[in-house]
Amino acid sequence: MISSGRGCFTAILKRKAQLSPSCSLLVIERPDGFPDARPGQFVSIRVSDSPVPLLRRPYSIMDLTPKSLSLLVKAVGRGSAEIAARKPGDAIDLMGPLGGAAFPEPEGKAAIFVAGGTGLAPLLFAARSWRRKRLRVKTHIFYGAGSRGELLRDLVNREFSECRFATLDGSSGFRGDVVALCRELALKKRLPAGTLYSCGPRGMVRALVGATRGLFRAHYTSLESIMACGVGACRGCAVPVKGAGATALRTVCGDGTVFRAEDIAWEEWEE
Ligand SMILES: Cc1cc2nc3c(=O)[nH]c(=O)nc-3n(C[C@H](O)[C@H](O)[C@H](O)COP(=O)(O)OP(=O)(O)OC[C@H]3O[C@@H](n4cnc5c(N)ncnc54)[C@H](O)[C@@H]3O)c2cc1C
Ligand code: FES
Repeated sequence: MISSGRGCFTAILKRKAQLSPSCSLLVIERPDGFPDARPGQFVSIRVSDSPVPLLRRPYSIMDLTPKSLSLLVKAVGRGSAEIAARKPGDAIDLMGPLGGAAFPEPEGKAAIFVAGGTGLAPLLFAARSWRRKRLRVKTHIFYGAGSRGELLRDLVNREFSECRFATLDGSSGFRGDVVALCRELALKKRLPAGTLYSCGPRGMVRALVGATRGLFRAHYTSLESIMACGVGACRGCAVPVKGAGATALRTVCGDGTVFRAEDIAWEEWEE
């Protein structure tokens, strides 16, 4: 469990880049006193000063340096669209770093990442962190998005040793979802061995668990779930985890976001 040094901060947006029609990169000035964070932790952002939308919105930390905090924001609804519309110089009210469990470093010489959409963000933070620590580890990523325009190819190519892409419409890389790509490579015995790290929509991760059972040393996943408090208080993001004999509920925001994928009782997890 990560010790909590979290707090609420007001930070200034330094730079914004439109990476795809729906995804923006926000590079925020790291506020004074903002603690170090580990891959899989997140921040919770206040959308606006008006009461609606009331709840903060959670975003994985995509990078954290002594001077900046980077986030990848996909506009999917009102809250995310308002956050993505901020301009350089604007203030951002954020709470963090949140999350009680992060991606552990790989034990072997290879880390295999499987990302769906904005699930890329915490995986990219992991790869960068381990490179900065000079871990001698080869990083393979399998990354899927809806179409070529949504695939953040340049960003990914810069960060990982080996990259394979999948798009649902076949406009770039493998045609189909990223789990189908992994399944095909597994059948051909071309999936690299090592520790598996994943993040993406729940259905993707669940299918990945089924497709890769027994193929990796371990599978760690950073879960996404609809959140309210973000700090383990409301139990709104509870997820069923297999225990001795019975299923126990754990919170994604307080006990996760990272879990061993095989510990999740996927068939019992309902939203
Ligand atoms: C730990 C964590 C890390 C996240 N990291 C990122 C990230 O790095 N980049 C990013 O773009 N998004 C990330 N998300 C998802 C992001 O928080 C939601 O997209 C955002 O809260 C949507 O707010 P909205 O007001 O725009 O959408 P709403 O209007 O509230 O909803 C629009 C649609 O998005 C769906 N949705 C809303 N929240 C979530 C959620 N938490 N998970 C899945 N679907 C959701 C709703 O079901 C609905 O279909 C993360 C979520 C969690 C829990
Ligand atoms: S969102 Fe409240 S416990 Fe996780």
